[in-house]
Amino acid sequence: MSETNDHERRPVIAGNWKMNPRDLESAGDLAEGIASKLGYDEIVDKDVIVIPPTPFISDVSQILELSNIQVGAQAMSPENGGAHTGEVSGKMLKSVGATHVLAGHSERRTGGETDVMVNAQVRTALDQSLRPILCVGEELNVREAGDAVHTVCAQVAAGLKGVTAEQMTEVIVAYEPVWAIGTGMTASPEDAGSMTESIRDQISLLYGEDVAQATRILYGGSVKPSNIGELMKQKDVDGALVGGASLKAESFEGLVKGF
Ligand code: 13P
Repeated sequence: MSETNDHERRPVIAGNWKMNPRDLESAGDLAEGIASKLGYDEIVDKDVIVIPPTPFISDVSQILELSNIQVGAQAMSPENGGAHTGEVSGKMLKSVGATHVLAGHSERRTGGETDVMVNAQVRTALDQSLRPILCVGEELNVREAGDAVHTVCAQVAAGLKGVTAEQMTEVIVAYEPVWAIGTGMTASPEDAGSMTESIRDQISLLYGEDVAQATRILYGGSVKPSNIGELMKQKDVDGALVGGASLKAESFEGLVKGF
């Protein structure tokens, strides 16, 4: 591999809207703004995904239907149906237009999701033909204690338990250091590069080098149009999972076109 990223793997830019915007009308406006900025046939060399709150997925998918922009969900139940009040299944998400689903975002891990639950979501998503984006990342105290690589690689191994090498073509991994999310404290390109390299090594240990080289690994945490170029130069960074800067059509356009 070369020192810098020549994008042998198809890059991914994913915008995680989190619990924004405030209502369906604003979500529609944002989706329409993104569609008009990015055109309907302009994006051919990367995967662009928007990840709205669940109630907006259906409308956002319809607005983006003729574009190359895909739509993801932020979370799903590991169950396929039945008596699970408040839960949403992968099949439901698929039926309203989702192609991807986040699993194990740190904001959900903080709320009590364990590695076992995250792994169940990853496997159920794959069973439902949804592409999981497995999120991993260490807290600041873990990094300061020198345990970041160990912790993140353990999250990767636990999240992928029972996933076959064949299924790995559908899996995206996102490294999001918790201390960098929503703080403006982006990881340095070198830190993002070295952790994504460790994640690829971990995938190689689990599945072999061919699968590891084919897997897309994203960085997330205060990514902006102004820093995406440097991050994308890292040989193991294949894209970005973006929160705040994905909530305005202009800055989302800047991310997609910024490298
Ligand atoms: P920010 O880009 O707002 O730091 O959020 C990152 C994130 O959590 C994306 O999933």
